[in-house]
Amino acid sequence: MAKVNENFLKLPGSYLFSTVGKKVKAYQEANPEKKVIRLGIGDVTLPLPKAVIEALHRATDEMAVQDTFHGYAPDLGYEFLRSAIVKNDFADIGVSLDVDEVFVSDGAKSDSANIQEIFDPASRIAVCDPVYPVYVDSNVMAGRTGEYDAATGRWSNVIYMPCTAENNFAPAFPEETPDIIYLCFPNNPTGATLTKEELQKWVDYANHKKAVIIFDAAYEAYISEENVPHSIYECEGAKTCAIELRSFSKNAGFTGTRLAYTVVPKELELEGVKLNALWARRHGTKFNGAPYIIQKAGEAVYSAEGKQQIAEMISYYMNNARVIYDGLKAAGYTVSGGVNSPYIWLKTPKGMNSWEFFDYLLEQANVVGTPGSGFGPSGEGYFRLTAFGSYENTVEAIERIKKLG
Ligand code: MLT
Repeated sequence: MAKVNENFLKLPGSYLFSTVGKKVKAYQEANPEKKVIRLGIGDVTLPLPKAVIEALHRATDEMAVQDTFHGYAPDLGYEFLRSAIVKNDFADIGVSLDVDEVFVSDGAKSDSANIQEIFDPASRIAVCDPVYPVYVDSNVMAGRTGEYDAATGRWSNVIYMPCTAENNFAPAFPEETPDIIYLCFPNNPTGATLTKEELQKWVDYANHKKAVIIFDAAYEAYISEENVPHSIYECEGAKTCAIELRSFSKNAGFTGTRLAYTVVPKELELEGVKLNALWARRHGTKFNGAPYIIQKAGEAVYSAEGKQQIAEMISYYMNNARVIYDGLKAAGYTVSGGVNSPYIWLKTPKGMNSWEFFDYLLEQANVVGTPGSGFGPSGEGYFRLTAFGSYENTVEAIERIKKLG
């Protein structure tokens, strides 16, 4: 008799952003006259840069001609894109990588969910709290997290590293020893960063404990301050303990186009097994390559025009971040993030919990954000707004919030 994977039944509720989406839809259906402003999910709103659109058109035309038609893409990515990545994202900041250490995929969400498959099912994971929910949920599905305690919002077999105002939203080394450590910096959801020295300590710690860091650098393009590392491989020794995840979604607007990559260095070995070879085997078996036209679009991100247009997009969103940050501060909120990140993290006012504030903001200001508790127990009493809206909507949302008093 067929049986379901019972690990899936352990997952409480629906995925965070699905819950938010359902609540907003219900509100909007009940109040069709209200103009709801969405600053919840970190989805971009500006159109793709011109250089990217032109590359998409060219590549689409190639697909219409037999001589230039492309079928299955190489499962690990086209050489032209992997070389552009190695040069622009790494060599240009002094990090040397080989092309075959880069694995092109259809998104960092799937990579961050899938990467756990190459580790022992008994591995203990450590996560920041609050955290991007995919890291934990994918390990729940894999049966690695133990039992869920609804009262504490914690899984019995997950090591939580609280990131609170007291530690500037930067995790301390956990008391228990993890096997896999998920780090995301600039951080989703808090917008916090680690300095190079702080990240170096994590690399040293992981090498010492023989743990692997899964470093999610999806927001690196938003770094504006010196001494905030863009890649974990800027730290000495990272190639023997770290996998890095990158995305084209947040820097270049590919949320609807889907493109990302994962770096697995060849020096990274566990008990004599190279994780690069393991991930290549996994990727080759389960993935048939990101589409040619999308990889061509990704290549255009690294052209001179592409770089210029992307810099303009990022500065547009970071201007929104300033509007949110300054506006909320002026209104008396306790705010952080928003400087090296498109996320602004605020303390909920008047003793409201995260979901109470979500409802309050939706009903009273018709503004959608993301409840901090949805990212983990230490997110309770916090709320996340994104800078990815339009400038006009962002200004209006902040004006409405200010009027709430
Ligand atoms: C977020 O809002 O946290 C992100 O958009 C989610 C994602 O990138 O999958």
